[in-house]
Amino acid sequence: MSDDLLRRLKVHGSVPAHIAIIMDGNGRWARGRALPRPLGHHAGMRAVREVIQGCLDSGVGVLTLFAFSQENWQRPAVEVDALMGLLEEYIAREVDNLRARSVSVRVLGDLERLAPGARKAVDWIVAQTAGGQELALNLCISYSARAEIVGAARQLAEEAVAGRIVPAEIDEEAIARRLYTAPWPDPDLLIRTSGEMRISNFLLWQLAYAELYVTPVLWPDFTRRHLFEAILEFQRRDRRFGRVPV
Ligand code: FPP
Repeated sequence: MSDDLLRRLKVHGSVPAHIAIIMDGNGRWARGRALPRPLGHHAGMRAVREVIQGCLDSGVGVLTLFAFSQENWQRPAVEVDALMGLLEEYIAREVDNLRARSVSVRVLGDLERLAPGARKAVDWIVAQTAGGQELALNLCISYSARAEIVGAARQLAEEAVAGRIVPAEIDEEAIARRLYTAPWPDPDLLIRTSGEMRISNFLLWQLAYAELYVTPVLWPDFTRRHLFEAILEFQRRDRRFGRVPV
């Protein structure tokens, strides 16, 4: 069934170069089964594997996943600890597999706030997978888009004070080059699961012209087939980037 969709999307048109995903609904998935919330996050790891495989199969070059926001630090300590533990578990379990499939992992966010164990794991997977050519996987952890833009503004101000840049040279490109996502093109497609119609402080600059796709499916239930459906829908969209058709 999902292979049939894969064949269709390959014939249909171009695949997004970069997909970003807000993985939402783990808590509701757990509540629906009378399970503690951390078990919903645990179930969400399977969906992470599914979308990585789906991107490799369909030829998507960059996948950016919103795994933990700066706002998420305010959740109960038991849930924050569970999510950080999951991150370490995910890295320990998946690093060999990701390297074997030539996936390079980068972690975007305020990593200073991570506990030493999580920080070590993050640095390790980045080093172990460096040079992977098939898929760039960005995990956004302790991430806030506004904080990212503030960081770029601060950097530019410091460079201006030091005389390395003049304010008249500050353009969109200058800002984009100072964001975490500088090495990659902007996302073409944003997927949000669980039906919520929000951006939630995710990639505010980079999503300027992304196509938005919201599905009611809860993140732990999201599969390769759902990813292919989103790509097929993307291929039906008429992207005009603010212009009129010629
Ligand atoms: C949002 O669901 C999801 C998160 C805050 C965490 C996402 C984490 C994972 C998918 C698992 C780990 C992934 C990696 C890469 C280690 P929610 O808790 O806000 O759900 P709710 O809105 O239903 O309560």
